[in-house]
Amino acid sequence: MDTHVVILAAGKGTRMKSALPKVLHRVAGQPMIEHVLAQAAALNPRSTTVVVGHEADTLKTALASHQGLAFVVQEPQRGTAHALLTAESALRGHTGTLVLLSGDVPLLSAATLKRLVNRHSSAGAAASVVTAVVEDPGGYGRIVRSGQPGEPIARIVEDRDATASEREVSEINSGIYAFALEGLFDAVRSIAAENAQREFYLPDLVAIYRQRGLGVETVTVSNPDEIRGINSRIELAAVSRIVRDEKTAELMASGVTIEDPATAYIDRGVSIGADTIVHPGVSLEGFTTIGEGCEIHSGVRIVDSQIGDRVTVFNHSVITNARLADDVRVGPFAHLRNETDVRAHARIGNFVELKKTVLGAGSKSMHLAYLGDATIGEKVNIGAGTITCNYDGTTKNQTVIGDGAFIGSDTQLVAPVKVGKGAYIGSGSTIREDVPSGALAVSAGKQRNIEGWVAEKKGRGQRVRG
Ligand code: UD1
Ligand code: CA
Repeated sequence: MDTHVVILAAGKGTRMKSALPKVLHRVAGQPMIEHVLAQAAALNPRSTTVVVGHEADTLKTALASHQGLAFVVQEPQRGTAHALLTAESALRGHTGTLVLLSGDVPLLSAATLKRLVNRHSSAGAAASVVTAVVEDPGGYGRIVRSGQPGEPIARIVEDRDATASEREVSEINSGIYAFALEGLFDAVRSIAAENAQREFYLPDLVAIYRQRGLGVETVTVSNPDEIRGINSRIELAAVSRIVRDEKTAELMASGVTIEDPATAYIDRGVSIGADTIVHPGVSLEGFTTIGEGCEIHSGVRIVDSQIGDRVTVFNHSVITNARLADDVRVGPFAHLRNETDVRAHARIGNFVELKKTVLGAGSKSMHLAYLGDATIGEKVNIGAGTITCNYDGTTKNQTVIGDGAFIGSDTQLVAPVKVGKGAYIGSGSTIREDVPSGALAVSAGKQRNIEGWVAEKKGRGQRVRG
């Protein structure tokens, strides 16, 4: 049987107090709706439709890279039942099961969704609801059963519309459902807006189906964190915390030392090898991979980068979109970015920035340097204060440095320029022309000493003051 997915994401998210659509707020580094789209994909659906409304264009643009997503616009937003109705045109003529997800419920597991679909189809239900028993059900719709807990579900009542005794119910509606497509939209059309908010509530469908004698199943999750909805920034932080805790627990179980899991910010897409040590206050983001036996010191931020084995990154270094081979040492206070490629055993020290640069195996740049658009060979020594002048005001130009070259401190390499293998450059040089292999290049002027100059200057100063 076909499965179709509809994701509700049209609401304003008033409680976020944000100009950004709620579902684009990031949970552990990724917009919350991306977590939901990943859940949807795990079902291999025939179609996935996103209901947008508030800030619809921003949301569509943010999701443009997803192939095959359909969008429908709900304007104005008159409740979750009304939202589902706007998707009717996208599903016309289809049969099978519709799985309804909420753009603001990012932690649902693929296993739970599969359990929902299986239960729904094996029971031949008209609707199935994911529920959870929680300690603090405040704000959620409550599951009202016809008798004792475990009896069939009778209806769902929203928090605002519930009686005092209904509010005592600790079983809540997750807002995640499976529906038989047949007859669904006609039934949804019969929902009335007779409630505190004057909105069309999708959960009212449960009572309608039950009154008609149709089967409504429930699937209860054992871990209620899975169905946490995000309505405020406090909930956003709480849910992000859950994701991070899961991630650090998973990494520690696989042999990574995380000195202080409470201050490790490690995105879901990050992988780390065994015996790597992560110090407090480290951010590892995006699709970063880190090898085995590495040490990442406090204050380091690494984004979308590949780090080999036995690499040490000292404090407060920032590495984005770079590759570091095995046995590299970086920092403290280094900045590596934009397709930088550091080869095995190379060393980068403090206040060194590399951009779009290859630093060859065993090469060193230990202090105060800018190396941009450069290809640097093996075993090259880059002296303190070396700068590639890669930008001439219109274009970025290349610097090429051969194996074994020695670049003296405070050298400016005015690109495009080449330094041959084994060449030496004297300190303080401005290199505008290529240097042949094995040559020494010096460009600083000859030194001049003026004897007695200091005493004379002081004498002049006294006369001026007097
Ligand atoms: C909803 C459920 C509640 C459940 C809770 C679980 C209803 C009436 N209530 O409440 O039973 O316990 O989720 O988290 O459904 N949306 C639209 N268009 C609209 C209104 C909402 O697309 O007109 C979207 C929102 O963007 C959001 C989702 O539907 O992604 C849920 O809406 P929200 O207003 O957050 O519902 P809750 O009050 O959380
Ligand atoms: Ca919600």
